[in-house]
Amino acid sequence: MRSGPWVAPRPRLAATLGQEALGVDIAPRAIEQAEAKAADRGLEVRFLVWDALRLAELGEQFDTVLDCGLFHVLDDADRVRFVHSLAAVVLPGGRYHMLCFSDRQPGESGPRRITQGEIRTSFAEGWDIDSIEPTVIEVTYDPSGALAWHAVVART
Ligand SMILES: C[S@@+](CC[C@H](N)C(=O)[O-])C[C@H]1O[C@@H](n2cnc3c(N)ncnc32)[C@H](O)[C@@H]1O
Repeated sequence: MRSGPWVAPRPRLAATLGQEALGVDIAPRAIEQAEAKAADRGLEVRFLVWDALRLAELGEQFDTVLDCGLFHVLDDADRVRFVHSLAAVVLPGGRYHMLCFSDRQPGESGPRRITQGEIRTSFAEGWDIDSIEPTVIEVTYDPSGALAWHAVVART
């Protein structure tokens, strides 16, 4: 992994690994909570209230983008906008890591269920899929978590 900056909804992870990290969320309250957690842990992280559909306007590029739970809250149109937004900020050879609810998760409450096919279609142009692995995502309302995908996608 190269040591350039990360942009992430979970930037504390990147900072824990000694990486320069920027965390973004569109919700000011989410950023306030993230700032407080980072301060508690003595981590140096930049945070911005920012729309992930407008990452190009950051004027920065990143080796790695971490997404925990964003992709699966976007509707179809915003999903397309998000992938274009990502493409503007991930350096060639850089990676986008995504955790999302999978179609293996029963029920309908919570975010949208995502199929492997939807991930592959979303990243069909300008990206290579490294892997899509089944995993479990932590959720606040169920200690056993929810069935999820961890996708790793490389910018070509
Ligand atoms: C399911 S929560 C996940 C929160 C956090 N990443 C976590 O792992 O606990 C989805 C988050 O995406 C944020 N979000 C939704 N649309 C966004 C957008 N266009 N740009 C940035 N953040 C967005 C919401 O404010 C919310 O905090």
